[in-house]
Amino acid sequence: VSYGRITATASYLPPKVVTNDDLAKVMETSDEWIASRTGIRQRHIAENENTSDLCIHVANTLLQKVKKQSSDLDFIIIATMTPDYHTPSVACMVQGAIQATNAYAFDISVACSGFVYALSLANKLIQTGAKCGLVIGGEVLSKMLDWQDRSTAVLFGDGAAGVVLEASDQPMIVKEKLYSNGSLGQALTSGLVETTDYQKTVHPLQMEGRAIFDFATRTVVQSVKELLADEAQSVDYFLLHQANARILDIFAKKLQVPREKFLQNIQHYGNTSAATIPLLLDEAVGDGTIILGGKQKIILTGFGGGLTWGNLLLQV
Ligand code: ACO
Repeated sequence: VSYGRITATASYLPPKVVTNDDLAKVMETSDEWIASRTGIRQRHIAENENTSDLCIHVANTLLQKVKKQSSDLDFIIIATMTPDYHTPSVACMVQGAIQATNAYAFDISVACSGFVYALSLANKLIQTGAKCGLVIGGEVLSKMLDWQDRSTAVLFGDGAAGVVLEASDQPMIVKEKLYSNGSLGQALTSGLVETTDYQKTVHPLQMEGRAIFDFATRTVVQSVKELLADEAQSVDYFLLHQANARILDIFAKKLQVPREKFLQNIQHYGNTSAATIPLLLDEAVGDGTIILGGKQKIILTGFGGGLTWGNLLLQV
């Protein structure tokens, strides 16, 4: 049996940066409110690019980094809650654009837990015979935001990031558990709805912020405790979904782990949903904090819409 190993990381942010002060010019908010409540100072917003465009950039960079042809890929998985279309999938658009003629391609819809779910799934594809694939989280959340609603508009950003996963005889994922609780799904909704009178309505993203905050700092913390048991102190870095810097503070406190072990970049990008964790990973690999093949122990924790959450303990 082979196991999936990350052999490269990459990311792409649309060039336009919108600061908190920029938002304060168009809605009743302030840099002080946003930064103190969430840690966010700016976000990237796509102008003439959609989710597939962001993901195609990431896919091309990934292939360059591992010096592979697109025809070497067996699969492409894109985690997104903001696809260009319901069909074709973003993954098929990427596959077509890079001419990955031997790859099967599909999207998964798991909101902010998307990258964690996709990496878990990709590892299982490699365990059953695939040799090499791309796993990318990409979002253009800005197109789903209600720009009149300051309680959500200030929180999110656009971006994409991902990894190459290749077959190895050394397992990378050493422990994992994924969860869903659909009975709490109404706490975070976004997308097309059809009402009983056949009226089709596009609903912007709506979120009960406080409920999601409590879910993250209770249920998700508990799931990390259960996965790690007495191993929490031996984890080198915690790569949590970036929804709010205060959530990271509470995790560190409840797990009794130094706050510096919780990587943070929400100040630059806001919440980019399925892209937050691979963005963190790509930055950490880029600046040498995480060394691929260096045997560090890291945990990836996703949580969000569905509701969904999940943890992967990796020996990278
Ligand atoms: N600027 C200024 N004031 C604001 C803003 C704003 N942008 N937004 C809300 N306020 C006001 C509210 O109107 C409220 O005023 P009131 O007391 O007069 O009614 C006050 O600020 C406090 O609002 P709360 O919502 O109670 O603020 P809270 O401290 O709970 O912070 C936040 C809100 C940041 C959304 C927080 O709840 C949070 O981070 N939740 C988690 C979000 C999350 O984790 N999402 C992840 C999943 S996302 C996904 O899956 C796509």
